Order: sequence, then structure tokens, then C-alpha cells
Amino acid sequence: MLDMSPPQTKQGFSAPVVRTNPIQDMFNAVAPRYDFLNGLLSAGFDRYWRKAAVNKLEPIANRLFLDLATGTADIALELALRGKSRVIGVDFSTAMLELGKNKVKARNMQSSVQLFPGAAENLPLKSNTFDGAISAFGARNFADINHAIHEIHRVLKPQGKIVILEFSFPRNGFLQWLYRLYFEKILPVMGRWISGHKNAYSYLPDSVGTFPKGEKFASILKGAGFESVGFKELTFGITTIYTGLKHA
Ligand SMILES: C[S@@+](CC[C@H](N)C(=O)[O-])C[C@H]1O[C@@H](n2cnc3c(N)ncnc32)[C@H](O)[C@@H]1O
Repeated sequence: MLDMSPPQTKQGFSAPVVRTNPIQDMFNAVAPRYDFLNGLLSAGFDRYWRKAAVNKLEPIANRLFLDLATGTADIALELALRGKSRVIGVDFSTAMLELGKNKVKARNMQSSVQLFPGAAENLPLKSNTFDGAISAFGARNFADINHAIHEIHRVLKPQGKIVILEFSFPRNGFLQWLYRLYFEKILPVMGRWISGHKNAYSYLPDSVGTFPKGEKFASILKGAGFESVGFKELTFGITTIYTGLKHA
């Protein structure tokens, strides 16, 4: 039986107190409709993007992975299923985590996936612990992206891999215009209507707009000490997967 419990946490306990902030409140509020809206608003592409990101981690057996901003644990479950790996999921929204925990329990995967509350900017985890770390659609929400990337670097083992999946915009002018019409005008209205949350789905395009993309985000990874940094655009550039390695 693999040990998945408190020793991995920095302070020696598994449920650090997480103070609330508006982003956390927003994810707590939309949590019940989050999975449904993801599938609907991305026309099902979200599952393909997550699988493509998990592929980049090359999940082979007996590895320990971090899924940061795990939300409802889709990436954590995919990782654990794929390579029979162990996964620690961390997120600061307790409502998202509760839904994730229900999914883990429903699949009887409690021995391979464990979810903890925690903030990306101050991970409650020991240094040099994980073989790989991933965050899907989490990074653009981090209050201090540089600090969060340094934290991921800290908890990875030497040669550990980082994979970040985040939204971006198509480069092609016409496609970008069409996509932004949907993403900035139609999606917020649908999201507000279905989630019942006033701002969450206008926050989405706003946060994607200000997130550093392409070479800019690659520079942040390099600045935190990652090597062999690269990125690959998916679906005409609607999302991008960034990768890097911690120095051996
Ligand atoms: C868009 S959801 C993505 C969830 C999941 N990774 C997925 O692929 O569906 C963003 C998640 O990031 C979490 N989050 C945002 N900022 C965070 C932070 N600073 N620390 C920890 N979690 C954070 C939110 O609570 C939310 O669950």
C-alpha cells in the first residue's frame, strides 16, 4: 500500500487553513454547474485538451504527480487511471474539492488520488517531492503567477516535469475575431444564465485576456528555473500546453 498521507505536507498536516478571496468565492459558487458548463461551452473539447495535457506528463506507473488547481479532479483521475500513478490534487475551493472527492470515491480511487485544500502561491507540500506537476485552466487565476510557478518548481523532484494547460487565442485574424465573438460576447451570457453567477463567465474571457501567453509565459517558466521549456497550441490556438523540466 502506498503512503499518501500527511508526510508530504510542509507543515505535517493535511488540511491547512485557506483564507477566502473573491476568486475562491466565485469557484465555490459555480462549482455545482462547473463540469456541465465546461462541456457545454467548449463543445466537449475540454476533455480532449485535458487528455492532451496529461499525455505530456507521460504518466507511467509508480510516479507521484501534483494536480494543482485540481477543481473537480478530472485531471487527477485521468492521471491516476492512465499510469496507475499516485496523484495529490490541491485547490483552494472547498466546493470544487468536495465534488472532486465524490468522483474519486465513486470510482473507488481513494488509494491513488488524494485531494487537499491549499493555495498555489504557498503550497502545503514538501520540496523535491513530485515526479511531475500539472495545472489545467488554473494558472490564469493565480494571484501571483510567478510565485506559484516557483512553488511548483520547489515541490518537483530534479528532472520533474511541469505541464500547464491554459486558454489562449487563435493567431489567425479571422478565426480570432470569430472566437472572440463567441468567447467574449456569447459565452458570458450563456454562463451567467446557466450558472446563475453574475460575473464568473465574464471573468473567464477577462482573465484569459490578461494572462501572459506563448513566449511571455515561457519566460516565466524559464525565470523560475525550468529548462527545455516549450509550448504547443491546440485547436487553432484556443488552448496552449506549456512544458518544462526542473534541472537534474
Ligand atoms: C477553471 S478551474 C480548473 C479546474 C480543473 N483543473 C479543470 O481542469 O477543470 C480553476 C480552479 O483553480 C482553482 N484556483 C484558482 N486559483 C487558485 C489558487 N491561487 N490556488 C489554488 N487553487 C486555485 C479554483 O478554485 C478552480 O477550482
